[in-house]
Amino acid sequence: MKIGFIGVGKITSSLVQAYCTANIKGLEVYLSPRNSKKADELSNRYSQVEKRVSNQAVLDAADVVFMALRPGDARTVIRELTFHKRHLVVSVIPFLRYPELKELCHPASHACRAIPLPSVVNHNCPIPVFNSSEHTQTLFSYIGQPLRMSTEDELHSIWTLTGFITPFYDMMDTLSQWAIDHGVGKGNANKYVVDMFQSLAHVAQVSEPIDLKALAKHAATAKGLNEQAGIEIRKKGAHVSYREAADGIFERIEKNLLETK
Ligand SMILES: NC(=O)c1ccc[n+]([C@@H]2O[C@H](COP(=O)([O-])OP(=O)(O)OC[C@H]3O[C@@H](n4cnc5c(N)ncnc54)[C@H](OP(=O)(O)O)[C@@H]3O)[C@@H](O)[C@H]2O)c1
Repeated sequence: MKIGFIGVGKITSSLVQAYCTANIKGLEVYLSPRNSKKADELSNRYSQVEKRVSNQAVLDAADVVFMALRPGDARTVIRELTFHKRHLVVSVIPFLRYPELKELCHPASHACRAIPLPSVVNHNCPIPVFNSSEHTQTLFSYIGQPLRMSTEDELHSIWTLTGFITPFYDMMDTLSQWAIDHGVGKGNANKYVVDMFQSLAHVAQVSEPIDLKALAKHAATAKGLNEQAGIEIRKKGAHVSYREAADGIFERIEKNLLETK
């Protein structure tokens, strides 16, 4: 498998690490030259990785091409490239809708849009994909769990949720800090918080169907601790804040405002 990356930043670094540790026979990875430091680091670390002299040289060597450019750079950079029929193009750029992507990559045989996260390095990251095919499902199965999106609107709504990584860690940090302030050692507090939420997420992950409301209700024994915290937090409007923050992110994705806010 010959995979190329145009744009070697944070997400490409994670994807390259994920592919290079996935035990794929005959893997060849080609990187665009800009941000030489990152490209050099990756090619020094993995024998499968090679930095090419230009963006076009990446396309010439690869069959699968990831477009991992910042939204403001993407159109200009992609427009300068010459694609081939054999190319499968994967765009991880939020605003570039499929019809324009397809046109920019003509005559590539297939183009899709995906949302990998940096946690893909651990091979346990959900990867929403719009315009997925058998080939792209296989491509993403090596490094994570592909999830087919039926429309681009669905993809954009899911993309909105990726803005909640910071609030998620913040919430865990707040609870851990509270425990530390109440006499728990920092190591134990952090370990307990991350392991507890991991364990709760796992219960939800393996339930069939996944019913988050039912799980919340099930844990809220009458007059119990969870009922108390649930009522207090809801009363303070935290649930409304989450929805409003999601509305704001969604609007930015829909209006292509990602680099202008
Ligand atoms: N980071 C994430 O978790 C994540 C997740 C999903 C999707 N995405 C999307 O993926 C894209 C990349 O994100 P990122 O976080 O990896 O950004 P990033 O770290 O800023 O990486 C973008 C890279 O593209 C390079 N670049 C700029 N112009 C170029 C050109 N003409 N030719 C080749 N490379 C060029 C930049 O080089 P310079 O540094 O020299 O400018 C930079 O290394 C964005 O659209 C982002 O929204 C990111």
